[in-house]
Amino acid sequence: MCMLETFFFIIGLNSTLYLFFSALNIVKSILSSNNLSAYGKGSWALITGCTDGIGEGFTETLAKQGFNIIQVSRNPEKLKNQAQDLKAKYGIKVKSICKDFSQCSKDPVTFFNDIFFQTKDLDVSLLINNIGATSNTIKKSFAEVGIDNLTNLITLNLFPIVFLTRIYLPEMNKRTHKSGIINLSSVLADLRLKFNIPYGASKNFDKYFTISIQAENDRKSKVDILCLQPGYVDTVAVRKYKPTILVINRFECAESAMKCLGNVQVTNGHPKHLLMSIIGKIASLGINYLRKN
Ligand SMILES: NC(=O)c1ccc[n+]([C@@H]2O[C@H](COP(=O)([O-])OP(=O)(O)OC[C@H]3O[C@@H](n4cnc5c(N)ncnc54)[C@H](OP(=O)(O)O)[C@@H]3O)[C@@H](O)[C@H]2O)c1
Repeated sequence: MCMLETFFFIIGLNSTLYLFFSALNIVKSILSSNNLSAYGKGSWALITGCTDGIGEGFTETLAKQGFNIIQVSRNPEKLKNQAQDLKAKYGIKVKSICKDFSQCSKDPVTFFNDIFFQTKDLDVSLLINNIGATSNTIKKSFAEVGIDNLTNLITLNLFPIVFLTRIYLPEMNKRTHKSGIINLSSVLADLRLKFNIPYGASKNFDKYFTISIQAENDRKSKVDILCLQPGYVDTVAVRKYKPTILVINRFECAESAMKCLGNVQVTNGHPKHLLMSIIGKIASLGINYLRKN
């Protein structure tokens, strides 16, 4: 084979393998199912940012499956109402932890150790690292994003995932049953856009962190770690942008993620978001190519 043939052979092989594994991941994401009782009957699921949006979707989905719930959010009234509702509807136990995550970067060790301290006697089997600031930098160039906004994005999107994984992963590795961690990234983490830069970059960090932790975590470990990259989910945070195409609701988002946990490592979850990701990646590649040529 001459140099040129070898070059095209390697490119072709590379692309074929990439497409094959991407397609396999999509098929597995769509066809996956998960027996949640394997995580331990009567165990606890900890959800950050649980009183609204996607976090509320996870809370309801898991409570319905019989998990006891550790709610971590900032509004005591909302926490109380949700706890009463969950106990009445599903007969489960609920532990409420009131925390404002916008304060977590000031003294992260104290902030996150306090959450752990309040849960140390509970058998925590699932950690849903959901809290995050959403796309409030949309339509702004990087220089236009205010310092407070930027600080809030970095604080909410980076600190909780890193510190809570650091605290709970070793604890989960001690359990005899399976455990699971779901870290919320976003479809935008993979797209090179000229808007929403701090959001996309922080969600890219969440993805990189999660897939690296998956690689480090022993293959034989009983802790399933999932990087979830949803597209638009109908929550207060994104409703103001009135997205209509390929939107799903909070419950569809949580249910599809729970099916994928333990079956794939990175997913957009719902089939609509898998499609959104494919369209977005191709469009982003094309736009960026044209921009340079
Ligand atoms: N929605 C989407 O389309 C979408 C797409 C991709 C990824 N995501 C990611 O999914 C996650 C959840 O998004 P979402 O749209 O569901 O968010 P959301 O609607 O803004 O709500 C999130 C929850 O977080 C709580 N919360 C907000 N700020 C807090 C703070 N400083 N301290 C404690 N709790 C706080 C809220 O409490 P209150 O009720 O008290 O406000 C609420 O319970 C984020 O990581 C986001 O980046 C979302």
